[in-house]
Amino acid sequence: MFNPKLYNTPYHTTDLSKFKFLVTGGAGFIGSNIVEYLIKYNAGHVRVLDNLSNGYFENIKDFMGLPNFEFILGDIRNFETCKKAIEGMDFVTHQAALGSVPRSISDPITSNDVNVSGFLNILTAVKDAPDIKRMVYAASSSTYGDSAALPKVEGNEGNPLSPYAVTKLVNELYADVYSKVYGLHTIGLRYFNVFGPKQNPNNPYAAVIPIFCKAFIDGKQPTINGDGLTSRDFTFVENAVQANIKAMLLETVTSSGVEKLTNEQITKHEVFNMACGDQVTLNEMIEMLNQLSGQQIAPIYGPERKGDVKHSKASIDKISNFLSYEPQFRFQKGLEIVFEWYKTQY
Ligand SMILES: NC(=O)c1ccc[n+]([C@@H]2O[C@H](COP(=O)([O-])OP(=O)(O)OC[C@H]3O[C@@H](n4cnc5c(N)ncnc54)[C@H](O)[C@@H]3O)[C@@H](O)[C@H]2O)c1
Repeated sequence: MFNPKLYNTPYHTTDLSKFKFLVTGGAGFIGSNIVEYLIKYNAGHVRVLDNLSNGYFENIKDFMGLPNFEFILGDIRNFETCKKAIEGMDFVTHQAALGSVPRSISDPITSNDVNVSGFLNILTAVKDAPDIKRMVYAASSSTYGDSAALPKVEGNEGNPLSPYAVTKLVNELYADVYSKVYGLHTIGLRYFNVFGPKQNPNNPYAAVIPIFCKAFIDGKQPTINGDGLTSRDFTFVENAVQANIKAMLLETVTSSGVEKLTNEQITKHEVFNMACGDQVTLNEMIEMLNQLSGQQIAPIYGPERKGDVKHSKASIDKISNFLSYEPQFRFQKGLEIVFEWYKTQY
């Protein structure tokens, strides 16, 4: 039920058994990892809302039948479904969306429906549910768009480069306006290329690490879009789970111990980069995979992809200061864990 290499250190001190959590997109990659953490630490109730359009029942099947776990097969594009899913919950972490820049380029309308209208449904349902203590949502580093500045710092964004990036920017704008107009202060976590167990390599819009791991396991040459010098702040999923838990509970560790941030300290919508603050190129990743697999496979170089930025690296100062977030899994360690995990999957 639990991956023995993950979530061995709690990122909270609050007794989770007193609280009920809704994880939208909880059958997906990041959502199901948040669910795993919450169940492992005995959350009072964990409800997943997912339409399985891009997630997998397999990711949550171990939790089915547990008295504190519930799965709602439903669509965030339906407002009534969202209202029902939020009913009785204390915390919401909103992960449901259609990821992938190429997907949004080939079908911008569906990406907009799910990522913008679906987001607005969840946000509005949360606004109308007075007992919700905090909503955290998955934002994206794509919001930095064409800004060439490195590292990426909150407040210094460029213009979006893809329909997907527009949807994620619009999420932030709505969250900001709901904070100003309705006093609903949510937290957006701008994920930078998250990877880890339960991320699927077999769909047409799979991310680069699952695809490369599968290629190495199959002994095949991976294809790099571009010259391989493209760099990313690849972030292992346990770091994303840590950020979600800390953003929901708002505990912060200080020299005098653990303190809880009060609602008065969160007086507006906040966005935080969620990353490692590192930069790894695709060529470096190939080298590490060669070492891990004991092979010497050269990649095939193809054309650059539309809508991609060349380099990305986050400043994690804001999230570290505000939420006491500290990435526990750097790239190499994360890659080792996920490569081992993919080997068990084939
Ligand atoms: N993985 C990354 O590197 C990354 C980077 C930046 C942002 N994000 C964001 O993080 C979130 C989670 O990403 P992920 O990588 O786990 O993706 P994922 O596709 O594995 O998970 C998303 C889940 O949402 C579900 N979903 C999609 N449309 C839905 C709908 N209409 N109704 C209900 N459920 C629906 C899918 O079935 C899936 O289980 C997304 O919002 C994504 O945009 C991810």
